[in-house]
Amino acid sequence: MEKASKRAHSPAKKRIWALQFVVVLLAASSYALTYLLWPASPSAETLPINAESVIAQCIALQMAPGPPDSFNARTQSDRFVEGTKPTLIRNASIWTGLDSGNEVVYGNILIDKGIIKKVGSIDASLLDVYRDIIVLDAAGSWVSPGIVDLHSHLGVGSSPSLSGARDSNSHAGLTLPWLRSLDGLNTHDDAYRLSIAGGVTTANVLPGSANAIGGQAYVIKLRPTAERSASAMLLEPPFSINDTHVNPFQRPRWRQMKHACGENPSRVYSGTRMDTQWSFRKAYNTARILKEKQDAYCEKALTGRWPGLGDFPEDLQWEALVDVLRGRVKVQNHCYEAVDFDGMVRLTNEFKFPIAAFHHAHEAYLVPDLIKKAYGHPPAVAIFATHARFKREASRGSEFAPRILADNGLDVVMKSDHPVLDSRHLIYEAQQAHYFGLPANLSLASVTSTPARIMGQDHRIGRIIEGFDADIVVWDSHPLSLGAAPTQVFIDGIAQIEKPFTSKKPKSAQRVPSTPNFDKEIADAIKYEGLPPLEPETAKADVVVFWNVGSIFMKNTATRKVSEVFTSTAENGVVVVEKGRIVCSGAEAACPTAVLRPDALHLDLAGGSIFPGLLSYGSPLGLTHITGEASTSDGPVFDPLSMLVPGILDGTVIKAADGLLFATRDALLGYRNGVTSAVTAPSSRGFLSGLSTVFSTAAAHKLVDGALVQDVAALHVALSFSSGISVSTQFATLRGLLLGEGEGDLAKQFALVVAGKIPLVVNVESADIIASVLVLKKEVEAGTGNTIRLTLAGATEAHLLAKEIGQAGVGVIVQQRPYPKSWEQKRIMPGPPLSQSSAIATLVAHNVTVGIAVVDPAGVRNTRFDMAWAGLESNGALGKAETLNLVSSNLEMLLGVEESNSDLVAMKGGSGFEGKVVAIMSPRRSSVDLV
Ligand SMILES: *[C@@H]1O[C@H](CO)[C@@H](O)[C@H](O)[C@H]1NC(C)=O
Ligand SMILES: *[C@@H]1O[C@H](CO)[C@@H](O)[C@H](O)[C@H]1NC(C)=O
Ligand SMILES: *[C@@H]1O[C@H](CO)[C@@H](O)[C@H](O)[C@H]1NC(C)=O
Ligand SMILES: *[C@@H]1O[C@H](CO)[C@@H](O)[C@H](O)[C@H]1NC(C)=O
Repeated sequence: MEKASKRAHSPAKKRIWALQFVVVLLAASSYALTYLLWPASPSAETLPINAESVIAQCIALQMAPGPPDSFNARTQSDRFVEGTKPTLIRNASIWTGLDSGNEVVYGNILIDKGIIKKVGSIDASLLDVYRDIIVLDAAGSWVSPGIVDLHSHLGVGSSPSLSGARDSNSHAGLTLPWLRSLDGLNTHDDAYRLSIAGGVTTANVLPGSANAIGGQAYVIKLRPTAERSASAMLLEPPFSINDTHVNPFQRPRWRQMKHACGENPSRVYSGTRMDTQWSFRKAYNTARILKEKQDAYCEKALTGRWPGLGDFPEDLQWEALVDVLRGRVKVQNHCYEAVDFDGMVRLTNEFKFPIAAFHHAHEAYLVPDLIKKAYGHPPAVAIFATHARFKREASRGSEFAPRILADNGLDVVMKSDHPVLDSRHLIYEAQQAHYFGLPANLSLASVTSTPARIMGQDHRIGRIIEGFDADIVVWDSHPLSLGAAPTQVFIDGIAQIEKPFTSKKPKSAQRVPSTPNFDKEIADAIKYEGLPPLEPETAKADVVVFWNVGSIFMKNTATRKVSEVFTSTAENGVVVVEKGRIVCSGAEAACPTAVLRPDALHLDLAGGSIFPGLLSYGSPLGLTHITGEASTSDGPVFDPLSMLVPGILDGTVIKAADGLLFATRDALLGYRNGVTSAVTAPSSRGFLSGLSTVFSTAAAHKLVDGALVQDVAALHVALSFSSGISVSTQFATLRGLLLGEGEGDLAKQFALVVAGKIPLVVNVESADIIASVLVLKKEVEAGTGNTIRLTLAGATEAHLLAKEIGQAGVGVIVQQRPYPKSWEQKRIMPGPPLSQSSAIATLVAHNVTVGIAVVDPAGVRNTRFDMAWAGLESNGALGKAETLNLVSSNLEMLLGVEESNSDLVAMKGGSGFEGKVVAIMSPRRSSVDLV
């Protein structure tokens, strides 16, 4: 046995060993007792020289992982960086995570040596000890523990994504418990800085989900380290990381391991769920056999039956999975559907190991009792808030899952799966969970104390407690309010944002949002197994009267621009609608009693607002039910630049209108949240997309009156570094087409663009490509004398050319939350706290007509949040009317929508996370829909 034979002990060391040995024996398991009570009397020849350490190792196998007993007495963090000055955060509203997540301490936090020294009121005499102390006056701001991400691929799925750093999925087989995400942890990822700017301080970096057992995960702190190594980022790594020869007297530390069931491993490797499940059983059986050998060996060693015992049975490939069977590994299990939970629950009971958390788990809320049958203890459930329907497994996902799971007593964790969701905005997931019914204490816990506990680090992170790691976020508003951004983030007591920029937030953002009631929706989510009917109900009454209206926003019929036409601090406005058309609105006195008919439907908006129907653009909305399922989608077009187009199609430009699918869940959810129409272009993976169309998100099918709002809106192309064909070749093609060198339909459509009849929408990210597009536009216009209506979509780097884009009269459609997903999106303008302005505010300041793109169909429902968020981070530059323009009139103009949408949305309650859309008025359809 390698372990003991390699150790040479000095006499002094031996004495310490012997002492520790007795302590361990006294404290330890039944094996030890057996040994003490029935000491076999081994003769001198049979007692091997390493007997002492064999016994120690055998006893250590029974030890549960965790911090050493002395941990709470520490006065300095093992992660303390020499030279870090102590800091006093004064006058803060501190959400500590204590008292079931209900405790708020108004006071100070003293941090030193990488840990929290004191919370609450702090004596001047205590401060006298600290001469060189940094004081941060929080001026009453909210302070929370650092955000903890239970499920991240930060560093292993790199940002920007480059082929040289794609290390999250091994292709070496289905069950690979010996792999370590640490070995692929790229330290140069752009996302570290960005995620820290969102308050994330700790992440569990998991291998991907292509394998049933993808390997071991590692918990990291996100801050840069002096050593600049991946290892230096680790938080309490298992001892086996730096030294295979574990000190047997030390309590082990928690390990993490990724498991995945369902579509991903089946699709990538095995073909079916049955194969994946067998691969699990086969691997666990291998581990079980090894574990049984070890246990039999130890039983003999501990009862002194040494003769012929030989070496302790070990296998480097399987030791981690054996540790799972010993309950010493936090199994983080990617698993979505009931069928897969069932398989995993059976597996845990067959092999007797617990699961720390089911991740993604889009159906967990439908089967809480099944989840509770897992071996050992119920797994936590780590989920997204509204990201769903991207594949079959996720198609029954519900925004009410966090609440339902919590009602069933299960631990709820919100996670990013970064870079699937940008972990910078993990707090947004908690905010949404709160909006949809999860109590505030559990919502904040879902990204702090709960994940800390589920990863086995709750003795030092996730709460604000004396002695805990000094991982602290100071917020500009209540962390559950929309757009909350850190003003400073501490990791191990070190301030992470050198020069924080802040955007002034309204007073109302300083309290926990009072969220709407969703009781009926929650009940329906369960009743209909995640697929509740979403079709709106049309009001039977001809007249609908909205009471207690706080504000009314309308479009100017000539300019299309939205403005606030009525506002009342008393929030007592009235709007009377007849057959979908407003007949009277404003202060109550403005509407004669005659129109307030008693047979009308009366709705109380509780100070809410009326605003124009929103428009969505940027996703394949209306072309797909489940994006990952080809058979539920219109599918991609042939791209003439990168594919062999069938001759029969020669020169044909594809129209999205021909492929429209109505009543998709994402369209209906969009409608229910005020997005009443959408512009969608054909899905393309290359240069040419085709002609976009405008459609109603509420319509049941195309033949319903008003379903197809406009057959053709704009012509769409894309220019990208990552299309596989040189950018210059793409430009040559575009130039040729604009100069009339195309043929057939293609020539005809480009002629319309050159004549200024329809807009040309160019999907483009890089500022360099944008610059070339502006040059090309000028070149073509000089030749023809016409002005091209050009819109840049995507345009992550457009802010770098804001002035030039403004001068060229070009419009831009950008995402609200920029992210450097690819190299051509690298130069983002991050917004507060990393920059004063946002990309949107910068472009608007240069007179660019700006629209907001929503690229995930499941995100369409959140357009209202995107719009409000853009205003909240603009430091007052964008008022409510301006932000409404970003997702209505501006998009209409940028995308060639000819007739401005006249729908109006009635929202009950305030903006952000306080309101709920209750009705949509449509003069076009002469009706009011109730949602
Ligand atoms: C959350 O807080 C409420 C009181 O506001 C309390 O009743 C509940 O037990 C808390 N939940 C948990 C799981 O701690
Ligand atoms: C804390 O900050 C609030 C808000 O700025 C202020 O009103 C209050 O006076 C401050 N309290 C102390 C003790 O400084
Ligand atoms: C391994 O890491 C632990 C914890 O970080 C440390 O205490 C120990 O000294 C390290 N061992 C070696 C051999 O570096
Ligand atoms: C934007 O337009 C306004 C009004 O036309 C003008 O005063 C202002 O100078 C313009 N700003 C920029 C940056 O072009």
